[in-house]
Amino acid sequence: MTRTPFDPSSSILLQALHQRATDRVPVWFMRQAGRSLPEYRAVRGVESILKVLEQPDLAAEITLQPVRRYGVDAAILYSDIMAPFANLNIGIDIVPGVGPVLDEPLRTHHDLRRLRAVDPSTDLLAMMDTVDLCVKELNVPLIGFCGGPFTVASYLVEGRPSRTHTTIKRLILEEPRLFDQLASRLVDISVSTLAAQVAHGASVVQIFDSWIGTLSPWMFRTALLPHLQRLAIETTALGVPVIYFGVETAGLLDDLAGLGFTALGLDWRTDLNAVVDRLGTNIALQGNLDPSILLAPREVLLTATEDILMASARVKGYIFNLGHGILPETDPDNVAAVVDFVHRRGTELRSRIEP
Ligand code: CP3
Repeated sequence: MTRTPFDPSSSILLQALHQRATDRVPVWFMRQAGRSLPEYRAVRGVESILKVLEQPDLAAEITLQPVRRYGVDAAILYSDIMAPFANLNIGIDIVPGVGPVLDEPLRTHHDLRRLRAVDPSTDLLAMMDTVDLCVKELNVPLIGFCGGPFTVASYLVEGRPSRTHTTIKRLILEEPRLFDQLASRLVDISVSTLAAQVAHGASVVQIFDSWIGTLSPWMFRTALLPHLQRLAIETTALGVPVIYFGVETAGLLDDLAGLGFTALGLDWRTDLNAVVDRLGTNIALQGNLDPSILLAPREVLLTATEDILMASARVKGYIFNLGHGILPETDPDNVAAVVDFVHRRGTELRSRIEP
């Protein structure tokens, strides 16, 4: 197979992130690599994802699978928001069917001493080898990523996935200075992780702050905003577009749009038209199809896709994606049908004048 090396000027994803007009609407999916793909299940095995990530050949293969199958406009590195912490000796694992788990969660000033800085040249060797392998094979951008400070702090402090995030919220309220130290350290780890991914050829990065929407606007502004401001400044300085994504962020969108990230990723609980009314047309947006709609009959699925494409018409930079990750029970043929529809009809639908 002859490969055309990746040419950034030909990437419709990069063009959209720079708010330039594109011939076709770019599309990729969060969790496009994963349990919905038979070729993933064939190579994955049953061990923790952290074990897979120690094998760059396998992690790169998994990263490339959805690009081959779907012809999406980007690959997203197969890794995890907790992967940068795997070599820090903090007793972390990612348990299949559960998620990130810590033997001893970090909750005190004393515990925080266990969280040292990440040195990519020693701590992220397998991740960097994976990035190198992917970039060599790809003719679309590789999206690097990290977790956002609240979401990562929640896993480290709760010690396991939490629906209510009570322990981390209590820590924010009772020991704001301890939380500040933790969040500062997490921003540093995010920036060094993303900087290393970019140095190895990632041409876009996304910050997954999935659980940020569990905060009230007040707690968001007092506890997280300064940290996210620094994160935005230091990541946009890396020279590649930066997408910030969280779920249930409707109450925070105005604050988030002011941070200076290149684009915001939207979940599916907000109406795209209403978001554009609120934020204006000058920030790039990504999303926001409900992942469960990929389980719907084909006609329903394509009607919902069409609605989103039309609603995106006023946004200069728009990237089609879901509002969260692909569900494991999704039929890959439905994903393929959406990619085809977005590529074939997206530009025309976006050019229709609003009624
Ligand atoms: O989007 C992609 O395809 C890239 C790969 C990716 C993974 N995790 C692989 C993974 C990305 C971007 C993530 C980020 C991540 N990890 C987030 C933010 C995005 C989101 O979904 O909100 C979060 C909250 C995590 C933490 C985490 N890791 C959870 C909650 C789980 C689920 C546990 C389970 O088995 O149900 C994981 C494990 C994980 N990370 C899987 C994958 C594909 C599950 C399957 C596996 O172990 O291979």
